[in-house]
Amino acid sequence: MALKNKFGITDSSELARVEEKISKMRAIELFEKNLLDTFEVGTFRGLAQIHKYLFDDIYDFAGQVRTVNMAKGNFRFASVMYLEEALKQIGKMPQSTFDEIAEKYVEMNIAHPFREGNGRSTRIWLDAILKKELKLVVDWRKIDKEDYLFAMERSPVKDVEIKLLLKNALMDKIDDREVYMKGIDVSYYYEGYEVFKAEELK
Ligand SMILES: Nc1ncnc2c1ncn2[C@@H]1O[C@H](COP(=O)(O)OP(=O)(O)OP(=O)(O)O)[C@@H](O)[C@H]1O
Ligand SMILES: [Mg+2]
Repeated sequence: MALKNKFGITDSSELARVEEKISKMRAIELFEKNLLDTFEVGTFRGLAQIHKYLFDDIYDFAGQVRTVNMAKGNFRFASVMYLEEALKQIGKMPQSTFDEIAEKYVEMNIAHPFREGNGRSTRIWLDAILKKELKLVVDWRKIDKEDYLFAMERSPVKDVEIKLLLKNALMDKIDDREVYMKGIDVSYYYEGYEVFKAEELK
């Protein structure tokens, strides 16, 4: 079964296709209209604005904090009970150096505030922080998807891999649309897997 969506699609691979297409159109709009400059940088509010913009056509929960507990692989993301508080704390984390920004990104991934679409919206959020604070962005073309996923899986325990991966991919060409779009490519998709996990943990 697919996640409940505004199109009434019940097939999860069809939903994945439609979702990818629409959220990418929205991401282009976000870029072209310079809307990111009007969003808060480095807070949950800013991330929610991004998420709402990308997914509002598809999900009722766009921009909304999830109400179910979730896990991926063996990792349980922040419990719904503590999520709001965690998001407030993350928003207050410093973001003046690369290390601080990467650590903030790792924490936001652990929080995983949304039911779906955390990876894509949080990568855009990360780029917005890097751009504002360091005048740099991640060149997502340089990041292998498998390496990225491995580093993210490992990041709640040790953040050296993800820091290294991101650091090696920093670039000062901060307004390249192609690179920005590469960052919202879906990094992986196991059919049915995520949905099942979330139901199980309710
Ligand atoms: N086992 C794990 N432990 C910690 N973080 C994980 C794990 N598996 C995936 N992640 C993170 O979760 C993100 C996926 O979350 P989600 O499915 O909500 O976002 P998405 O935008 O749909 O996907 P994607 O990031 O694949 O484009 C990955 O990008 C990665 O950062
Ligand atoms: Mg997903």
